[in-house]
Amino acid sequence: MTADRLERIGAYLFADLDRKREALQARGVDVINLSIGDPDLPTPEHIIEALMRAARDPRAYRYPPYGGIAGFREAVAEWYRRRFDVRLDPATEVLALIGSKEGLAHLPWALLNPGEAALIPDPGYPVYRSATILAEGTPIPFPLGAERGFVPDLSRIPAASARRARLLFLNYPNNPTAGVTDLSFFEEAVAFARAHDLVVAHDNSYSEIAYDGYRPPSFLQADGAKEVGVEFHSLSKTFCMTGWRIGFAVGNAAVIKALGTIKTNIDSGIFRAVQEAGIAGLLGPTEPLRERLEVYQRRRDRVSDGLRAIGWPAPRPRATFYVWMVAPEGRSGADFAAEVLERTGVVITPGAGYGSQGERYVRLSLTTPDARLDEALDRMARSFGSEAPPSGFGREAPPARFGGEVAPSRIGGEDSSRKSGD
Ligand SMILES: Cc1ncc(COP(=O)(O)O)c(C=O)c1O
Repeated sequence: MTADRLERIGAYLFADLDRKREALQARGVDVINLSIGDPDLPTPEHIIEALMRAARDPRAYRYPPYGGIAGFREAVAEWYRRRFDVRLDPATEVLALIGSKEGLAHLPWALLNPGEAALIPDPGYPVYRSATILAEGTPIPFPLGAERGFVPDLSRIPAASARRARLLFLNYPNNPTAGVTDLSFFEEAVAFARAHDLVVAHDNSYSEIAYDGYRPPSFLQADGAKEVGVEFHSLSKTFCMTGWRIGFAVGNAAVIKALGTIKTNIDSGIFRAVQEAGIAGLLGPTEPLRERLEVYQRRRDRVSDGLRAIGWPAPRPRATFYVWMVAPEGRSGADFAAEVLERTGVVITPGAGYGSQGERYVRLSLTTPDARLDEALDRMARSFGSEAPPSGFGREAPPARFGGEVAPSRIGGEDSSRKSGD
């Protein structure tokens, strides 16, 4: 009944964890979900106001222009100038997207012929792989290792793979590893793209979620970047707007045009009022964003300190709202996530869902209200804290279940029905 391509995407890798979570919830366990990268903090008020005003404009009832209203594309160009000192032509180098995921997912349709390859980071945001497969391309993973801060050594990509590839996906600050990079890496990426005649698609969805004074660069700041690539952005993370569905792609005009052509055949643009709200976000006050970053940074410190106190090797990421942690010795990330869920009712994401290089890891997200995050840390400390890390962790200790030292309360956290891999 269904097309073969569905099989090629493969099974949903978090299905097992979702089943376990649902079973616990059915038993009345108060599950805390730390697996989702979805800001719990509200969209800033001035953005909501802009939406309300624009929704009353009669133009909002009608189809919007395909590539985005002129005001939104101009606001994107202006934001790029202010933030990165990069100049963009709003008419040809900016394209509005229904969230960056939508654009990333359609890009391989615009650039790959069947059988051509895309180089994808492993671990990486799953859409790069699945979108390549859906476009009948071949994903070729390249490893992101801890030894280089999860930044690849492009010179180690085999020549045969580079020759086959038409597209290279990159993503810094990185999901899921929280790895960051600097402009010199993007310059290497431009040289690599030139040498192998491929397009770079840099996913900069987390550019504004950074701490300790770190300011992530844009790929387009690298010399020659606009000749070889495009960059994707999301208003989702920057402005706490995941539900609004708005993002954008910028850069090489030919690639932007090709992506726009695919989109005109599939969607009919973004609700005009949401674009007006996006303008308010891009050009409006930055204070609300600074406040939200302070919250994430404080949570990052709490989570990192809390996990280290248990004896787990939690890093202190400089960007994104993820903590990417290697599982205690001798355990896969999936086993560890399953045990954490069983013993504490806290959902964390097994790294294997992002690629085979993630198998030893788990990802925790900071987008949960402080009190719930503290409760999760508390439960983990009470359940695991007395075990001697790391070798003692794997011993067959009887699990401390709910009703014992960590009490269940009621069904349903604020985020209880969401899947683990979002
Ligand atoms: C690396 C990365 N890119 C893109 C997206 C998609 O974001 P959106 O479609 O909401 O803009 C996400 C969402 O989690 C992400 O982690």
